[in-house]
Amino acid sequence: MSAENTIDHLLDETRRFAPSPEFAAAAIARPELYEKAEADREGFWAEQSRELLHWHTPFTEVLDWSNPPFAKWFADGELNVAYNCLDRHVEAGNGDRVALLWEGEPGDSRRITYAELTDEVKRLANVLTDLGVGEGDRVALYLPMIPEAVASMLAVARVGAIHSVIFGGFSADSLRSRIDDAGAKLVITADGGWRKGKVSPLKTAVDQALADRGGQGEQATVEHVLVVRRGENEVDWDADRDVWYHDVVPQASAEHEARAFGAESPLFILYTSGTTGKPKGILHTSGGYLTQAAYTHRNVFDLHPETDVYWCTADIGWITGHSYVVYGPLANGATQVLYEGTPEHPEPGRWWDVIEKYGVTIFYTAPTAIRSFMKQGRQIPQARDLSSLRVLGSVGEPINPEAWIWYREVIGAGTTPIVDTWWQTETGAIMVSALPGITETKPGSAQVALPGISIDVVDDAGSPVGNDAGGLLVITEPWPSMLRGIWGDPERYKETYWDKFRDQGYYFAGDGARLDEDGDIWLLGRVDDVMNVSGHRLSTAEIESSLVAHEATAEAAVVGASDETTGQAVVAFVILKENYLKEHGPEGLAQTLRQHVSDQIGAIARPRDIYIVGELPKTRSGKIMRRLLRDVAEGREVGDTTTLADTMVMSTISAQVK
Ligand code: PRX
Repeated sequence: MSAENTIDHLLDETRRFAPSPEFAAAAIARPELYEKAEADREGFWAEQSRELLHWHTPFTEVLDWSNPPFAKWFADGELNVAYNCLDRHVEAGNGDRVALLWEGEPGDSRRITYAELTDEVKRLANVLTDLGVGEGDRVALYLPMIPEAVASMLAVARVGAIHSVIFGGFSADSLRSRIDDAGAKLVITADGGWRKGKVSPLKTAVDQALADRGGQGEQATVEHVLVVRRGENEVDWDADRDVWYHDVVPQASAEHEARAFGAESPLFILYTSGTTGKPKGILHTSGGYLTQAAYTHRNVFDLHPETDVYWCTADIGWITGHSYVVYGPLANGATQVLYEGTPEHPEPGRWWDVIEKYGVTIFYTAPTAIRSFMKQGRQIPQARDLSSLRVLGSVGEPINPEAWIWYREVIGAGTTPIVDTWWQTETGAIMVSALPGITETKPGSAQVALPGISIDVVDDAGSPVGNDAGGLLVITEPWPSMLRGIWGDPERYKETYWDKFRDQGYYFAGDGARLDEDGDIWLLGRVDDVMNVSGHRLSTAEIESSLVAHEATAEAAVVGASDETTGQAVVAFVILKENYLKEHGPEGLAQTLRQHVSDQIGAIARPRDIYIVGELPKTRSGKIMRRLLRDVAEGREVGDTTTLADTMVMSTISAQVK
């Protein structure tokens, strides 16, 4: 959807939904939260942190912003993140509470209590120590959605090491560049994981990533690969390097003391796409991150840990899986569903079956999933009992009012509050969202900054646009779970997020937004060359560089075109090399190139459409005008072409595409 269309569309939306009096009366978050945070922001965060976490050494400092944009939160405090997510619940007498209700795609299941998960993580922590992993070391995780994935993240955190989780859908190439960038010492993977009824060969990809080292003199940092048995598929084995999880973890000692680490010790690196070809390793640290993950999880989802069954459908390979499958819920002692597979397997109602089976009360998913369920029809969810649901959440991209209403009516029986949560890999936790017992919700709007968070919408010069106007979303004050940098590249961190509004000291999120007449926030999508496909971030530059790496391609331009289901879809315009064309002809090339991108980056980056064209629209300074290509890809009248070096080029392209 182009920004203009979105605005027109949103302005028609006038429906409002207040929480029921019963919901409001029992809600965790009270309106006083806003007042308290307003009165003393730092004091508010300090209080949240003390209330929600266990500090081995209490902090006395809250925020240190003496060297912006490098923040420190609670810097003189010490804690152990895994202890906060596990041991303390057991010590408080809740060891028998179920932590994970795990459902495998083939239909197998496991129930794991807090006591059991704590035990597993302690053993695994001992194994990590035996494998030479200690404070500050990097561990790459390439795993399916199985309990061992959660245990691995926590065990890495427990010994003060840093995890870098790589989504299982990424290719061996993507895996290699992430392992190398972080200098990982250990990789934890599985033989395979179940997806769509098949086993995806994860270990094979790890073997490839560690084998074909691209450049000369490249030194593999990985010493061991720890392998969970899940897929029961055949794998190659390097006896010096590879270790079966089941050979070492059950045998390891379950005694493990959680040492305290400084609040600012790195917890994880998570790679995300930016505007250049190279993914950025977003760095998060411990105390501030865990504070905001726990605070938002509790208040935004109205978590009552004794009675709720929570389910976030995100994969742990994304930030949502870090903050709202692992750290937030476990810090809060929640009982949650963890599901391995895809929504359609073995049939389209699988997610609703899971909700019925476990009596899920809080459900958090992405608009792209909701839209694909809408397409399949309401009869599918309506054939299940979804009456346990009481809060619904949305994340990853703007949710259009039609999908919002469908979500509430069909999934939420017309009664559940919906929280549309805006945030990013970089923000670490939710920043903008309704609070379900307080806010009167508006379909399509993410609405208001959470208590403790300062957001504004400004023009290009950094001045607030005020109500009833559009501009750029900025974060005007540091927040506890903010990224602390880009791994190995402090300059890029400053440039990417802080340079645009350097004078004001604002963090620039890269999103366009509009404030309505009540001051509520409506997100309008990215303003840079980042696409959002099914709620996942992809960089146009990264896909372009993959395309031009193919021998057939001379030049490529990629745009995100609006797509009914996935929000945006990848559309590529490619110029072929003359020689290649002469020798091979264009037959089947689009398909070859699509596969090439999939192999190089991962299936999520595979272009929906590839158009072979003779030229690309460029300005006189040689910059590709993606806006015009987007017009073509979306079947619109092509916009203003006067700044093109060759004003005829667009009519040629339009003709070729037709
Ligand atoms: O454009 C915004 C969009 O997703 C981007 C962040 O992507 P990522 O770091 O992958 O994290 C996704 C999950 C937090 C943002 O810059 N986005 C995320 N949530 C929303 C959203 N756009 C509109 N509404 C949302 N609720």
